[in-house]
Amino acid sequence: MSIKPYNQEASKKKQVEEMFDNIAFKYDFLNHTLSGGVDFWWRKKAINLFGKRLIKNDKKLLRLLDVATGTGDLAWALSVLNPKEVVGLDLSQEMLNRACEKYLNKAPFEISFVKGDSEKMDFQNDVFDGICVAFGVRNFETLEKGLGEMLRVLNKKGVLMILEFSTPENRLFNALYSFYLKNILPIIGRVLSKDPRAYKYLQESVQAFPSGKRMVAILEKVGLREVRYFPLTLGICTVYIAEK
Ligand SMILES: C[S@@+](CC[C@H](N)C(=O)[O-])C[C@H]1O[C@@H](n2cnc3c(N)ncnc32)[C@H](O)[C@@H]1O
Repeated sequence: MSIKPYNQEASKKKQVEEMFDNIAFKYDFLNHTLSGGVDFWWRKKAINLFGKRLIKNDKKLLRLLDVATGTGDLAWALSVLNPKEVVGLDLSQEMLNRACEKYLNKAPFEISFVKGDSEKMDFQNDVFDGICVAFGVRNFETLEKGLGEMLRVLNKKGVLMILEFSTPENRLFNALYSFYLKNILPIIGRVLSKDPRAYKYLQESVQAFPSGKRMVAILEKVGLREVRYFPLTLGICTVYIAEK
């Protein structure tokens, strides 16, 4: 059974779009509050690993794509890689509106935010040097389809970086983390957000999503190469780095 935000009838994509439209105005506040600000460090660490692989693959004058860009924090943080151009793509117009308010015309590189579906992108083949996704792939309707599309638009030796929640390998820590996800997070979500179901979906989707070696096997199956993974904060999050 697919984990969907509101019900089993409508498509996951429609429901995910509606959910992020609903919470967009509070997304940044909730994100930074619930993670205790650690999300900034996760993105920084992920970009650092992404940058290292891009340098290793001799990628210059970077054209980068931030898939599921949301309110644009990862797209903006890519400035440390000195890109020529960054495109942020997302399903939710409300999330994109927030990204535009925050970052449009403010970056020292070309930055644009476009509405689109990562599982069926309007870009030609082989056009990006690097693609990144933070906390996005878990929300795709069909994971393999989204990964296949990213592989299609990456150029040769182009790099894919995925940052996503994962299941901690340490059993004791995982039990504590599970308790937090199931019992505490939904209460905080209910108090702080107008869409309590969004935080139930967060817990359910995080716990059902493949992580670590299982995710590596999926990335390799769709055709990505040289896949490596780096657990962060005892495995609450994992960075996956791969190439075309
Ligand atoms: C949890 S937010 C992450 C936003 C941002 N990357 C960050 O790090 O804060 C997930 C985003 O994925 C977007 N999303 C989900 N499925 C998508 C799809 N198929 N195509 C494009 N965006 C999608 C949602 O609209 C939402 O803005």
